[in-house]
Amino acid sequence: MLIALVADLHGNRPATETLAKDLAQIKPQRVICLGDIVGKGPDNAFTFDWAMSHCDLVLGGNWDYGVGFQKFEPDVFYWEQLGQKRLQQLQQLPQETELWVSGRRVRLFHGRPIMDNLVVAHHGEDVIMPYFQDQNGQRYDAVIYADAHRQALRTMSPGLFVNIGSVGNAMGIPQCCYALLDVTEGKAIAPFEVRLRQLDYDRDQAVKDALAAPRVPRIDAYIHEIQTGIYSRGLPDTSTI
Ligand SMILES: [Fe+2]
Repeated sequence: MLIALVADLHGNRPATETLAKDLAQIKPQRVICLGDIVGKGPDNAFTFDWAMSHCDLVLGGNWDYGVGFQKFEPDVFYWEQLGQKRLQQLQQLPQETELWVSGRRVRLFHGRPIMDNLVVAHHGEDVIMPYFQDQNGQRYDAVIYADAHRQALRTMSPGLFVNIGSVGNAMGIPQCCYALLDVTEGKAIAPFEVRLRQLDYDRDQAVKDALAAPRVPRIDAYIHEIQTGIYSRGLPDTSTI
């Protein structure tokens, strides 16, 4: 069966519409969202509503909780756009889940806040390996996350470490990025396949949408990021760490 893993829609309507069309053609058996359905871009109610109505499960990301709990004053645009009911739903999103597929135990989460800091796939094993164990010391066979917005697939020992990329704010390749698992449900060993998928989308429209919503905080950085795939918010660029 096919399981679509999507994340980091970030208020980007054209990218989310492109994703929706692709999923309508592929018809995966399940769609799981790894969080950050709001923040950054201009159309947060749209991406929130799409995720909540089209995904079988939506996990929470650092932006979802930051906006949902109204942690940062500059985010007032998002609070007003989303309204109280959606903000409360953001607060209640679960942080992680797991799947048993093709005989593998697969851990799924957004990144932060499960991870203390932003982690990229080429960080040291000392940073990454702790996430392959649960609180009881039991092992996962794969860890799949988002957060860094940069698709990656790294073979660790004992399993795969996968970043599914970002639908609406992808780094590196500035396209609509997500992942597909082609697997068999259950604990019986079977082929395990991860596909990293990239779709071109109407980035000119995404820029127009952003310019039409000038109250979005750091809109200049958002536009530069969707045009170039280069992180533009002034924090250390973890792609070079
Ligand atoms: Fe994000």
